[in-house]
Amino acid sequence: MQIVIFETPEEVANHAADWVDTLLRQKPNAVLGLATGSTPIELYAKLVARHEQDALCFAKTVTFNLDEYFQIQPDSPQSYRSFMNYHLFNKVNIQKSNTYLPTCSETQNPRQQGLNYERLIKDSGGIDLQILGIGANGHIGFNEPSSSLASRTRIKTLTQQTLKDNSRLFGEDEYQPDKAMTMGIGTITDAKYVLLMATGKNKAEAVNNMITGPLSAHCPASALQMHENAIVVLDKEAASLLSDTEYYQWADSQNRKLNEKFGYYHNA
Ligand code: GLP
Repeated sequence: MQIVIFETPEEVANHAADWVDTLLRQKPNAVLGLATGSTPIELYAKLVARHEQDALCFAKTVTFNLDEYFQIQPDSPQSYRSFMNYHLFNKVNIQKSNTYLPTCSETQNPRQQGLNYERLIKDSGGIDLQILGIGANGHIGFNEPSSSLASRTRIKTLTQQTLKDNSRLFGEDEYQPDKAMTMGIGTITDAKYVLLMATGKNKAEAVNNMITGPLSAHCPASALQMHENAIVVLDKEAASLLSDTEYYQWADSQNRKLNEKFGYYHNA
């Protein structure tokens, strides 16, 4: 794992934007894995700014989102499709037909939809860079604790904690789905690179379990310990329970020199 620690969430977003930017300039038809939640909003704002000011081009980019609420209408303001349109897709030159989410409508079979999504990812050549956030309980995508570390795209029932954490995003009389379609942990770790962003004190325990805890389905993000190219970008609050931060910072300064000399990606 490359662990990178910054003072502020804005620096976290900027660093994540550097990874996306570098990939898209090197491989314009790259396949990006995208995440929702409040953490990546600033990353998307940075990418939009780079598109407007610095000609960052999405014309050939293909994207796969981690998850989507089960049986939600795509045009519902609470759908992850609406979130992505609002924060990124409507503001850059991406072709909407190249943007995918693991949807499942009322008339569709979630098992079949999961298989279809896996096939689409495979047919696109696989994900080059997967962006991730982390839940306060260590989930990635909607892979709640106890999810198989080998899981693939499927329907998941959300935990009470996740429902509570996400209830802030729903109005009082708005229906909050208790199930979602999500890439599995096996799907996520198949990506060539994964970049997880975490900010704020309420993520500190999950971050510590992910990095220093045992590899365990109890903390789905700990699966990144097995990933060849995992980058974890934290602000100082999210990193506040880690004990080896001096080493991480020293290693990061060395990695930056290596990246400058040899490039960020060695197999993109
Ligand atoms: C949701 C999403 C995750 C996200 C997590 C954290 O449940 N399914 O992909 O990482 O919440 O969200 P936030 O960034 O808002 O803390």
